[in-house]
Amino acid sequence: MNFSGIKRFAVVLVVGLMFSGCRGQISERQPIHPNPNMDMQERKEAQEVNNFFEDGRSMRPPVEGTVARGLRKADIEYYEGVDENGEWIAENPVDVTRSVLYRGKERYEIFCAPCHGLTGDGLGIIMTGGYGYVPAPTFHQERLREAPDGEIYSAIYNGVRNMPSYAHQVPVDDRWAIVAYIRALQASQNVSEDEITEYDVDMDAIRAEYEAEQAAIAELEAAKEAANAEVVPTAELGEQIITQYACGACHNIDGAPGGIGPTWYNIFGSEAEVVTDTGERITITKDAEYIIESIVLPNVKKTVGYENGVMVAYDYLADHELQSIVEYIKTLSDN
Ligand code: HEC
Ligand code: HEC
Repeated sequence: MNFSGIKRFAVVLVVGLMFSGCRGQISERQPIHPNPNMDMQERKEAQEVNNFFEDGRSMRPPVEGTVARGLRKADIEYYEGVDENGEWIAENPVDVTRSVLYRGKERYEIFCAPCHGLTGDGLGIIMTGGYGYVPAPTFHQERLREAPDGEIYSAIYNGVRNMPSYAHQVPVDDRWAIVAYIRALQASQNVSEDEITEYDVDMDAIRAEYEAEQAAIAELEAAKEAANAEVVPTAELGEQIITQYACGACHNIDGAPGGIGPTWYNIFGSEAEVVTDTGERITITKDAEYIIESIVLPNVKKTVGYENGVMVAYDYLADHELQSIVEYIKTLSDN
């Protein structure tokens, strides 16, 4: 064998060995792992049982009182809007500067105005579109003008009754900026004429503008009413309205017990006991007048057993709509 023969033999041998590595079968043996690093070590999988600890958990809870770095929210006035007695704090703990107010305006218009309205009157686009949301209150009422800043903050942080919390969308500084802006909105809608005349404004022009606006609104309302007067109330229309406003979330029509509100099955024309807003129990007949009152002024007479007061006033429904609901509820009754 000459030198090139040896070379050829070596090449055949190496290639042969390489092919012998691919055997086309699965091996049960451990692969060779020349440098183990820390690839294999004793440890527990998440949720695995660990008998070393009394509670059998391998995932150990942090020591009680542990606070992650940067998350010690000791300043509860700032983070929660309450003092150490749990009372809402009266004043915004953040320094209200012009830029804070503008930030509040921007955030308010993104997160609150769709429901509470750009001026805070509760007539945001979601409320006026007829989508059947629980109505948002106006901020321009005595109770909310006098509410402490902490209470407004709490509505954003904790939510309030039917309003969800916005804590995840709105960080702490922004919440206080929004509170400051709501205060500015409230001040803007509650100025006495004396205060206005302190500044260089033309009261007559403002009054004329207001009156023109009111006249235009009245005209629109009158046109709407005239158009509505021609609509004949029907049970079908009533059923549509009830679907649109999702009344069925609380009322059923099959008489099944356990709803949030009373069933509508067989109520029309029936006699029943109700609790009045003064706490008296009286017996009434559930006629058209009563049904309509129950919808526009739900807390005046409450069905016994359903005094939870969660139904809001649907006082913006037009007459023909209310009458259509009555027609519909009539069809659910044998009376
Ligand atoms: C999806 C609609 C919606 C949005 C968005 C919304 N709210 Fe509300 N808000 C409501 C409703 C509805 C209520 C009334 C809840 C109830 O009484 O059950 C309410 C109540 C409140 C109240 C309490 C008023 C009272 O009568 O005690 C405050 C304060 C408030 N909202 C502030 C805010 C602020 C600030 C934001 C923005 C961060 C905001 N809301 C965003 C619907 C909304
Ligand atoms: C959040 C739940 C809820 C929603 C939504 C709701 N209601 Fe109610 N409703 C109640 C409760 C609770 C009562 C009983 C207490 C009362 O009379 O206020 C009631 C009472 C009534 C009654 C009087 C029934 C009786 O037997 O005395 C009528 C009629 C009525 N609702 C109509 C409606 C209509 C129409 C809608 C939709 C436009 C509606 N409700 C939406 C909770 C609700």
